[in-house]
Amino acid sequence: MKKIQISPSILSADFSQLGNEIKRLEKAGADLIHVDVMDGHFVPNLTIGPPVIKALRKNCSIKFDVHLMISPVHKYIDAYSDAGADIITIHPEATNNLIDSIKKIKNLGKKAGVSLNPKTKVNVIKDYLNEIDLVLVMSVNPGFGGQKFMPEVLDKIKELKDIQIKKNIDFDIEIDGGINFDNSKIAIEAGANILVSGTTIFKSNNGDIKKNIDLLKSK
Ligand code: DX5
Ligand code: ZN
Repeated sequence: MKKIQISPSILSADFSQLGNEIKRLEKAGADLIHVDVMDGHFVPNLTIGPPVIKALRKNCSIKFDVHLMISPVHKYIDAYSDAGADIITIHPEATNNLIDSIKKIKNLGKKAGVSLNPKTKVNVIKDYLNEIDLVLVMSVNPGFGGQKFMPEVLDKIKELKDIQIKKNIDFDIEIDGGINFDNSKIAIEAGANILVSGTTIFKSNNGDIKKNIDLLKSK
């Protein structure tokens, strides 16, 4: 059984205090920092890019779990690697050649993640699972924090878990979007071992992020 990890999404953090926010997350026991990069083209929102990640890198020793909601993505992979990303997760729809992009990330010594939108089927990535370090299953349509969890994606997590066991392949299963204290347990039971959460971690219990991280982990 893989250790359950919590990857708080800084999309819900105070953007005017991002350096302090990631220090707070590190102190509060976050396992990873989920950095949502949006380009206003692949998704209808625009957030941060390599210069901000580079600046944050100096403040934080835990791994940056960088979720690239950008397209085209291939030509920008170097920039996110140089900025200090540890895991670089891309969407299959954002590259002309998924395996090339996955190999590029791994050749840079980073972990390669692929993200499946709610409507994207597992068989889009089935042939590449030996190369992939992490599958990020979206439980909301990407673009914004604070959206409602889509339980239908749990079947996808179960399907990935089955493939892991049947083919004896080791990759992390991360779930992202609308994760809260009511659905984190079913997400873990379905097979997720990394939970992304923004709103629940930053906004619940008067913003007590240590309590919220511990509560999500304790499920
Ligand atoms: C949405 C992002 C998610 C989101 C999670 O496009 O990929 O990481 O910020 O935020 P919550 O937990 O608020 O749904
Ligand atoms: Zn994300």
